[in-house]
Amino acid sequence: MRLTPRSITAMKGREKIAALTAYDYRTAQLLDAAGIPLLLVGDSLGTTLLGYENTLPVTLLDMLRHTAAVVRGVKNAVVVVDMPFMTYQASIEQALRNCGRAIQKTGCHAVKIEGGEFRAPTVAALVQNGIPVLGHIGLTPQSVQTLGLRVQGRGTEAARQLVADAQAIAAAGAFAIVLEAVPSALGAEVTAAVPVPVIGIGAGPGCDGQILVINDLLGLSGDFKPKFVKQYANLGAQISAAASAYKSEVAGAVFPGPEHGYD
Ligand code: KIV
Repeated sequence: MRLTPRSITAMKGREKIAALTAYDYRTAQLLDAAGIPLLLVGDSLGTTLLGYENTLPVTLLDMLRHTAAVVRGVKNAVVVVDMPFMTYQASIEQALRNCGRAIQKTGCHAVKIEGGEFRAPTVAALVQNGIPVLGHIGLTPQSVQTLGLRVQGRGTEAARQLVADAQAIAAAGAFAIVLEAVPSALGAEVTAAVPVPVIGIGAGPGCDGQILVINDLLGLSGDFKPKFVKQYANLGAQISAAASAYKSEVAGAVFPGPEHGYD
């Protein structure tokens, strides 16, 4: 069944949402066939694929290329493009132009932008102009230079602000909200405070769903293993073993064998 941002909203209270990031065509095909309802082409591709230290150097062109590939691989899932740093922050007009371009050029279904209450006018303008928005609050990696990459919402005032952020983004029309790195009790509180799904990453089991970076889930992130990650496979070890086996077979003239050649 072809899902839409509205179907994701309708999952609140009915079905937990298992979302993942995806960056390429083949992985998108596999995740879509596994029934993952929402694929985020995260700007985390800056660290997972491109080797940057953080997401700040990622460009709109990077995101367009990878998002179009993911869209080509998907039959059912909602595909969301993560708008990179400084493609929507400067003004509402900039956000409309760049988000509109991302939707038109890639065929994806929605955009994700970071920011709480202060970002609500941008969310409202996008939604009013036909662009579905996935919000992102709590730890927002594009603010790494000002907020760092640490758990957010600790303390009464910070927790109150986070609930206000979620409510403002939901009221502005976001179809769902990513909530990153907050104490589990606050994750549950935020989830109960809004009518749209809250998709947690490091926000505890009380959210309406979870999202993980696909490289973390597959064991492709090296030694990087935050507490909230559960690794479901160890492809890093398998790739190393396969490459070593290949190297020794080529060196030992075992591969290619006669069966790998043409008559
Ligand atoms: O870029 C990304 O992958 C994200 C997820 C961690 C939510 O924003």
